[in-house]
Amino acid sequence: MSNDGVNEGRRRFLTGATCVVGAAGVVGAAVPFVGSWSPSAKAKAAGAPVKANISNIEPGQMVTFEWRGKPVYVVRRTQETIDSLGKQDEVLRDPSSAESKQPEYINGAHRAQEGKEEFLVVVGLCTHLGCAPMFRPDVGAQDLGGDAWLGGFFCPCHGSKFDLAGRVYKGVPAPTNLDIPPYSYESDGVIVIGVDQEAG
Ligand code: FES
Repeated sequence: MSNDGVNEGRRRFLTGATCVVGAAGVVGAAVPFVGSWSPSAKAKAAGAPVKANISNIEPGQMVTFEWRGKPVYVVRRTQETIDSLGKQDEVLRDPSSAESKQPEYINGAHRAQEGKEEFLVVVGLCTHLGCAPMFRPDVGAQDLGGDAWLGGFFCPCHGSKFDLAGRVYKGVPAPTNLDIPPYSYESDGVIVIGVDQEAG
């Protein structure tokens, strides 16, 4: 945009407004999506459920899908990880997820469906201001607490930490655990994000 002929006061206002728009654009573009199976753009706009093939996720790996414009992280946890959940409740703000958002058929320290504890499904947006937390499964990472770090997620924006059940640590800005979206199993290898599991 040309500023020719614009007086100084107006020019300053326009420059400030441009910066705000620019910053919002960068935040929007910074969320990476790696969906392996997404519906059409039209269906997405309508908030349609998303089928996600989780059968190829290796133990210890995470894959990101997109649902309603949000990243959804699916982590396949090892038995060792599942066993470690529940051993560190004292460092977590809401270990039983009483104050956090999750469907009623999700329970326990693992925050998964019964019999499917291997898979964690969470919305990949920090509950502080919505940045995308990084997957940091590296147990003992020096920058995240050394021996006390059993793997989890780290939000680079303001330093919030979550365990491998998406439960927030004490003393960080995020107020609650990562949200768990409604989801159901169509088969052992396919989940449908956005559709509640029927009581079985
Ligand atoms: S947005 Fe994650 S810590 Fe602020």
